[in-house]
Amino acid sequence: MITQVSLRALLSREGRRDPNPFYAELHRQGPVCVLADPAEKFDVVVHGYDAVHEALRDPALHVMTGDYPDRRGSSRWRAHPALRVLVNSIFFTEGPDHGRVRRLFGQAFSARRVAALEPAVERIVGRLLDRLAERGAGGAPVDLLAEFALPVPSDVVGELLGVPEEDRDWFPRRVRAFGAILDLGAGIWRYQQAADLAAEELTGYFADLVAKRRAEPRDDLVSVVAAAQDPHDDDPNDDDPNDDELVANLLTMYNGGFVTTTHLIGNGVRILLDDPAEKARVLADPVRAEGFVQEVLRYEPPTHFSIRWAAADTEVAGVAVPRDSRVLVLLGAANRDPRRFTDPDTFDPGRDEGQPLSFGAGVHYCLGAVLSKLEGRIALPMLLRRFPDLALAGDPGERTTLMLRGYESLPVTVS
Ligand code: HEM
Repeated sequence: MITQVSLRALLSREGRRDPNPFYAELHRQGPVCVLADPAEKFDVVVHGYDAVHEALRDPALHVMTGDYPDRRGSSRWRAHPALRVLVNSIFFTEGPDHGRVRRLFGQAFSARRVAALEPAVERIVGRLLDRLAERGAGGAPVDLLAEFALPVPSDVVGELLGVPEEDRDWFPRRVRAFGAILDLGAGIWRYQQAADLAAEELTGYFADLVAKRRAEPRDDLVSVVAAAQDPHDDDPNDDDPNDDELVANLLTMYNGGFVTTTHLIGNGVRILLDDPAEKARVLADPVRAEGFVQEVLRYEPPTHFSIRWAAADTEVAGVAVPRDSRVLVLLGAANRDPRRFTDPDTFDPGRDEGQPLSFGAGVHYCLGAVLSKLEGRIALPMLLRRFPDLALAGDPGERTTLMLRGYESLPVTVS
């Protein structure tokens, strides 16, 4: 039997605040549901762990390339700089173009390169802890999100790409504006204008940076990818990335590289503050810290969904997905699938039940997965060691987004 559902409950205020009861209801219905109302923005919802894994590996299910609106006769996206950036990036590219860009940028994320970043991550975390100590001296409340969870990954990915330190404070407001259109729901268009403006500013910034590194290369990713482009060769059939691609990928990688990890750290700290026994275990045992980070990713993932469209007729978990269907892939629900995880609504860093699907799967599997886990397992124990009396100093408020899901601020005292 094919079960039909509506997304209204998920997109309601309560559903966004806590989507897990909706996910539990979906799991009672099976691994895949068809949406009943043709006015909904999706045709199919995939939420079972195995079904999500299958959907993300299905070559017929594509990320939202420009082909999708084009096939539907809608070219309005081209008027929006933010949408053009997304469509030019690896996140929204398929086939040989995707493979080519992934090989080029993937060089920076090999296990060896990421492991070599460990001392830099420790140095960055240490410096930010010093600053936190200064700002929180004498019991003054500080915002752990703005002062730690955000700058740690922003500095790490900034080092990796080669964004100069003095420029990094310029980004968060623009990155937030750009990211707002990635969420689910009918109201998202309200953020389009601000996202377009942010995309233009960010594009200008990265185009300048590429030009600077092309003139004077350094040991960073911007220099590597800029060198992959031959400015004297304008053959459209060769493997060189074009200017738009280069800038769109640097921009989305920088953005995607820090807001997600910010929420991994923020969501993790929030859980630790409520659980002194877990805090002690994470402090005492590096293996536990690794398990803790993995469980935060499962239990409170920073990204709850991915979107696909069917470029050809296919099926997922035996349910027909006709060509042109819009498919909502609920990573956050897959992580709470009772068929996969015992007692899924219990937070248990000791569980040994395999990887959650928070970084996706298949050809679009997150390039930064190893890096962000490294950041989490270094940053959280260092924070606890430095500030054993870390405590909440106010209400962190509610989380209301499903993409880039985390707190707006996390007021704490450090001493
Ligand atoms: C906790 C942190 C992170 C989470 C939860 C996360 C999540 C994801 C997910 C779910 C995808 C797949 C999207 C899809 O299938 O449609 C993805 C892709 C990607 N992520 Fe991450 N990410 C994180 C950190 C990072 C970092 C630190 C970087 C880079 C510095 C990064 C770069 C990328 C890139 C480039 C892709 C696109 C890969 C492709 O399309 O081939 N991510 N991420």
